[in-house]
Amino acid sequence: MTRQAVDSLRATSDPRLRDLLTALVRHLHAFARETRLTEAEWERAIGFLTATGQACTDTRQEFILLSDVLGLSMLVEALHGHRAPGATESTVLGPFHQTASPVRELGAGIDLVGDGEPCVISGRVRSTDGTPLPGAVVDVWQADANGFYDVQRPDVQPPGNGRGLFTADAEGRFRFRTCVPSSYPIPVDGPVGTLLRAAGRHPYRPAHIHFIAKADGHIPVTTHVFVAGDAFLDSDAVFAVKDSLVQDFAPTDDPSLARAFGVPNPFRHASFDLVLERA
Ligand code: BEZ
Ligand code: FE
Repeated sequence: MTRQAVDSLRATSDPRLRDLLTALVRHLHAFARETRLTEAEWERAIGFLTATGQACTDTRQEFILLSDVLGLSMLVEALHGHRAPGATESTVLGPFHQTASPVRELGAGIDLVGDGEPCVISGRVRSTDGTPLPGAVVDVWQADANGFYDVQRPDVQPPGNGRGLFTADAEGRFRFRTCVPSSYPIPVDGPVGTLLRAAGRHPYRPAHIHFIAKADGHIPVTTHVFVAGDAFLDSDAVFAVKDSLVQDFAPTDDPSLARAFGVPNPFRHASFDLVLERA
């Protein structure tokens, strides 16, 4: 049976596609043999995958979520996320980067609702040899203080809340105001939630801000910055934490600095560089 199914793929003209399909058939057949998969279980699996597809909309990607909670997204990332020494490590994109971030001035706020703990994020985009990268583009997105992205709660959050597209200054610096992100559960009202409950797993991600940094002549990085001290750093539902990405969001009580940044005092301040590898 396996031989016939594999042989049926021999005429696939794209060699990479042929390899992928062949390996998929071999591994699926091995899975069914190893587990002695029953027809009822197979039907249930088809029902689960069908529901996963049906849960997808323009603003929800249940298949990415499934890949994330099974650790597949991080495995693929680890296989190909090459990193020169000193470059910022990458991590998962996640399912909430579907809308374009609004272009914002350096120093602007991305928290349009303003109900969280005020926070300033600043740093430099530079090359691994230390050269600053003026004009680098920094795309940022995060959940609000209640743990929801704008696309999840369009009735409560204006579009673009928690998002910004910034261009680094002549010294490669970036800066923006926001609220301290909170840990949040990934969406559990669909098939992925059913799977997590069946496995007795919690759905939480440690607090983080997403970044994509791009600069001419450099390899872009898709990453997060995690808030040090978060209770879920050791049990991220999507396995995406890397130690180098955990940053202190330092409590800061400095009225003149707060005035300069345009935030209420006291506030939290995270400062780090986004370091890109030459292409
Ligand atoms: C996120 O951080 O936005 C995310 C990543 C993976 C799954 C769900 C959410
Ligand atoms: Fe996130």
